Amino acid sequence: MTDVLQKFHELGVVPVVVLDDAKDAEALGKALCDGGLPVAEVTFRTAAAEESIRIMASKFPDMLVGAGTVLTVDQAKRAVAAGAKFIVSPGFNAKVVKYCVDNGIPVTPGIQTPTEIEMALEFGLKVVKFFPAEAAGGLKMIKALAGPYVNTYFMPTGGISLKNAPDYLSYEKIWAVGGSWIAKKDDISAGNFEKIKLNAEEAVALVKAIRP
Ligand code: 3PG
Repeated sequence: MTDVLQKFHELGVVPVVVLDDAKDAEALGKALCDGGLPVAEVTFRTAAAEESIRIMASKFPDMLVGAGTVLTVDQAKRAVAAGAKFIVSPGFNAKVVKYCVDNGIPVTPGIQTPTEIEMALEFGLKVVKFFPAEAAGGLKMIKALAGPYVNTYFMPTGGISLKNAPDYLSYEKIWAVGGSWIAKKDDISAGNFEKIKLNAEEAVALVKAIRP
């Protein structure tokens, strides 16, 4: 078990963020850290992702900054060179997973099926992302999948909100939940960092209440 995964579990919530402009990275990092949630999955969906990771990782050395939506080995390499401490992908990309495992980079690939869980097991992964969580059957599906795979833990992402996060977090096979609700793209670009900080505080309080 890596320190990164331990930290995910401890924090319980991983904000998934989309930055259109790297100039927002520092304020976003500050808002999340000030809100008590020093973690971000910066998605490689925009050209600003790499530079945003670089800024957040250097300005907030204690923050757990990683890359999401990593679809290629090249993106994984660029993310890690920029300071990403973990890699997340929406699906199971064996090349990306192999690269990360071979290089000791914590990786959480997305899965939806028993076959994909077994692919993750082949690489020795204990925690997988379940994506897109709500659309793919939500907690009911995770509970069904968890049956045979007794040592596998899940990080559901996609459709998670403050409203349904408690249900997920109450189930012992949920490692952490991920979601964009804490730092919404529009709030980031509009500079609503106080709101993001409050959302982070709210998420932290929620996790504390469920996992005291
Ligand atoms: C992801 O990027 O992993 C998800 O799209 C986040 O989903 P959400 O916006 O529903 O939280």
